[in-house]
Amino acid sequence: MDLDAKIRDTNDLTPAVPDPATGDLRTVNRPAEASPAHSRTMQAHAEAALWVSEARLRLATEAANIGLWDWDLNANTVYYSPEWKSQIGYRDEEITNSFDEWQSRVHPEDLGPVLRKIAAYLENPQNRHVVEFRFRHRDGSYRWIYAQGNLLRDAGGKSVRMLGCHIDITERKRAEEELHRLSQRLLQAEDAERRRIAKELHDSTAQDLVAVTMNLGMLQESLAPGDTKAAHILADSIALVENGVNDIRTLSYVLHPPRLDETGLAGVLVEYAAGLTNRADTRIRVHVAPDFGRLPEDMEIALFRVVQEAVSNVLRHSQSDSATIRLARKGGAVVLEIEDYGRGMVDAGARGVGITGMCERLQHLGGRLDIESDAGGTIVRATLPLCTDRK
Ligand SMILES: Nc1ncnc2c1ncn2[C@@H]1O[C@H](COP(=O)(O)OP(=O)(O)O)[C@@H](O)[C@H]1O
Ligand SMILES: [Mg+2]
Repeated sequence: MDLDAKIRDTNDLTPAVPDPATGDLRTVNRPAEASPAHSRTMQAHAEAALWVSEARLRLATEAANIGLWDWDLNANTVYYSPEWKSQIGYRDEEITNSFDEWQSRVHPEDLGPVLRKIAAYLENPQNRHVVEFRFRHRDGSYRWIYAQGNLLRDAGGKSVRMLGCHIDITERKRAEEELHRLSQRLLQAEDAERRRIAKELHDSTAQDLVAVTMNLGMLQESLAPGDTKAAHILADSIALVENGVNDIRTLSYVLHPPRLDETGLAGVLVEYAAGLTNRADTRIRVHVAPDFGRLPEDMEIALFRVVQEAVSNVLRHSQSDSATIRLARKGGAVVLEIEDYGRGMVDAGARGVGITGMCERLQHLGGRLDIESDAGGTIVRATLPLCTDRK
């Protein structure tokens, strides 16, 4: 059945028209008939107008390769447009009007969530129904489909049809995945480089500078008595070099704490917070269960980077004079929270390089970042599943 016929079909209903207030599509009762001749003319006009708008719609959907579907909720039959079918490699006559034609092709992992979304939408049809899912092509591969739908009600407000479209977004999904993969490789390369520079600074540059202070100390001892000018210069140089050694050790630590590899995240967090509390005006408390244990290396690095970024945000943006870091295992996941008691985020949706980087790192390990923020402070929460099929 073609779309024209389908739209004219529904017993005593005329074609759907958008509700001017909500934009919802609604069906309306036929107007009262004046005379048979007038009525025939009106009908001819209406059919001509419908034919034209149908032709335009068909042209647009063909050009944009948009598949249309029209689900009769009472009969549980679905009209699928030729584009809908050709998106997955079928000719018009090869697909019947059954709901199962759609359902049987949705990826098994996506079917449950998509059906639940449809049920929730039918229960509470606000706005538009929008889903993305994998859909099996004739050749056995899966295409990513973006589907959107609208509910149509009869004059009594009863849901009678759902009308929507399928758009193939496989290329966009591929590009997104490629972007994720690349940004992940970038983060890994950055970690490896940080670790290398940290080791170099700590083991080589700092050691050389320590040797310089020792040499200067020996020079100090062999100075001729009374040479106060040289003594001053030497004392000044020793102080400068010692400062340099401290700065290099701090930098090396921030780049990659050596004990992260040796003792693990829990121990390093305590050490890191103590070091920061000494240097900054912000007091940082750490709560970790004594038996927290170790995590896989990539998780420990990711969570440490989240702590670094979140704490640096606390220091730079929150105006809080204290913060709390909590690390715990909760039901098959590791949950890390960084809480401050400052002014909160002005723009809750703000995303700079820092927050984006935290999200990227966690997503790659199958986890996620949640941020709660109000005028009383901010909680940054990282959740990582403990055993997962890593992407
Ligand atoms: N703890 C916080 N308290 C208040 N504002 C915050 C906090 N963390 C982040 N923000 C806000 O979110 C924005 C984005 O943070 P981020 O992605 O780390 O980028 P950046 O720190 O480089 O600005 C910040 O500019 C800041 O306005
Ligand atoms: Mg930041």
